[in-house]
Amino acid sequence: MEQPLRKTVIAGNWKMNQTPAETTQLLEEMKPLVKNAYCDVVVCVPYIDLHAALQATANTSICIGAENCHWEQSGAFTGEISAAMLSAIGVEYVILGHSERRTHFGETDVTVQKRIRAALNEKLKIILCVGESLEQREQGITVELIAMQVKIALGGVSEDELKQIIIAYEPVWAIGTGKTATAEQANAVCAVIRQTITDLYNQNCANAITIQYGGSMNAKNAEELLAQSDVDGGLIGGASLKAPDFAAIVGIASKT
Ligand code: PGA
Repeated sequence: MEQPLRKTVIAGNWKMNQTPAETTQLLEEMKPLVKNAYCDVVVCVPYIDLHAALQATANTSICIGAENCHWEQSGAFTGEISAAMLSAIGVEYVILGHSERRTHFGETDVTVQKRIRAALNEKLKIILCVGESLEQREQGITVELIAMQVKIALGGVSEDELKQIIIAYEPVWAIGTGKTATAEQANAVCAVIRQTITDLYNQNCANAITIQYGGSMNAKNAEELLAQSDVDGGLIGGASLKAPDFAAIVGIASKT
């Protein structure tokens, strides 16, 4: 079968790690290692590090993202950052719906949908995270749950706006646990996501959308995961905090 033309995207998710000074240092170390990447490279950092990250990666092909944004443009939301604020300083990407936000900070499919709307309005590119817990997998509801998460998150998103969105399949049981989904498990759920896009939009949209796998991806398992037909990249947590490891994954993605 002919391989559909879609972008391979490797994105780092630094979570709550790195000071601004450490951000500059890590990105300076990464820059030469990923400069010949034949895939898109994104690094998502804490809000406080965005300025340092944008400065360190100016005039490179590394894109910078935030790890969340609020759905309102401004207002009485103590401690929050809006999509408008992110785009105002030149941030290109934002992660939305990460399972850590859903688990620890009360994020729901409906608030994810609202944040997506706000990010789209600001022309940010979005990495939308979906994934099932171990309990849900064992109950046999992974397929329904993932389809539902995708459908609610994309409510009101036009076909044209969908081009700004990447979907990351991140099984909650594989995040930060060292337990990776098998390549077959990852591919099967990424295929469910693609089928959901066909149902919601059409085959062309489904063929074009980048779907990442995330959850304990590292330099050792990346090759097998990225070789899967429906896996178009990775969202990397732990391994994105070490320049050689992240660069190794970028190198593997550049070849697949
Ligand atoms: P991990 O995190 O690679 O450390 O499992 C992935 C993520 O949460 O995006």
